[in-house]
Amino acid sequence: MKEVDELKAQLQDLQNKALALFAEAESLKVLQELRVAYLGKKGELTSVLKGVGKLPPEDRPVIGQFVNATKTTLAEALDKAEVLLSDKEKQARIQAERIDITLAGRTTSRGVVHPVQQGLNEMTAIFSQMGFEMAEGPEIEDEFHNFDALNIPAEHPARAMHDTFFFNAEGDADAKLLRTHTSPVQIRAMQACVDAGGEPPLAVVAAGRVYRCDYDVTHSPMFHQVEVFKVDKDVSLAHLKGVLQHFLTAYFEKDVPIRLRPHYFPFTEPSAEVDIGCVFCNHKGCRICKGSGWIEVLGSGMIHPNVLKAVGIDSSVYSGFAFGLGVERLVMLKHGIPDLRLFFENDVRFLRRMGAK
Ligand code: PHE
Repeated sequence: MKEVDELKAQLQDLQNKALALFAEAESLKVLQELRVAYLGKKGELTSVLKGVGKLPPEDRPVIGQFVNATKTTLAEALDKAEVLLSDKEKQARIQAERIDITLAGRTTSRGVVHPVQQGLNEMTAIFSQMGFEMAEGPEIEDEFHNFDALNIPAEHPARAMHDTFFFNAEGDADAKLLRTHTSPVQIRAMQACVDAGGEPPLAVVAAGRVYRCDYDVTHSPMFHQVEVFKVDKDVSLAHLKGVLQHFLTAYFEKDVPIRLRPHYFPFTEPSAEVDIGCVFCNHKGCRICKGSGWIEVLGSGMIHPNVLKAVGIDSSVYSGFAFGLGVERLVMLKHGIPDLRLFFENDVRFLRRMGAK
């Protein structure tokens, strides 16, 4: 066989082997190694080319063309294989990194303000807007602030009605108790004013926990009250009624009729319980308002002169109104909550429903 034919056969062989290897290559890395092995400076093709020098000059262009054709074929085959492989590798990576977006997301649950606190915030905000100043008093009180200064002297039957939790014996000089209402804040706020050398007008709103030894469907041993009072010259029952009407309309977000029904509290004179037109039947009469169309919501009255006297405010110059309301009760009425205990059981389903507003 002529040398040139031998070389051609060798090149053909090399090409066939190379193409087969390219087709089998399973990664870009292997393909790159093959590229170097065949087309590289020290590659197979180069070593075949070395044989060209030994050929007679007239055969050289023929074989040269053949080598070039082989080179092009191999290069093209490599490029094609590379495209195929890189595509395959990309697909594999996409497959591996695939995330299932059909899976429902995990939500983080956010806390909500407790419905009682929400109600309390709404109520105090309404009074703040009317110009009442916020005040606070201690939950552990003494008999003076919780009773005596509020015109409830020892042996007064009203004391028994309060079902008080005492820390030590009732009547001890330093007897301490859990306040049974927020009215002692009236005393503390007026005392603070007088002690600072000030004098009325005083317009105060106070909110907080109160305690009574009482437990059933509508009573909890701890509940919340909001206390509101105003002392000034010429404060009248009409002011009380105006403030109540404004507050109740704002809180219930509708025109609720109100009525003042004569009542008795030792610390107010005259005293009145305040009713609103039943919010469940729109004042028509239903099971909840026992057919009357009215629902009692709070206690109120004109501050008793003895209360002003107890803190050193001249009752011949000043007068005042006061009222106190049960927060849970108003929240129940506004939102149609049937059972007081829901507020204290803290079942998250109830809390969430109340928080989603
Ligand atoms: N302190 C009274 C109670 O708890 C409510 C009240 C407050 C009544 C102020 C009149 C004036 O029942």
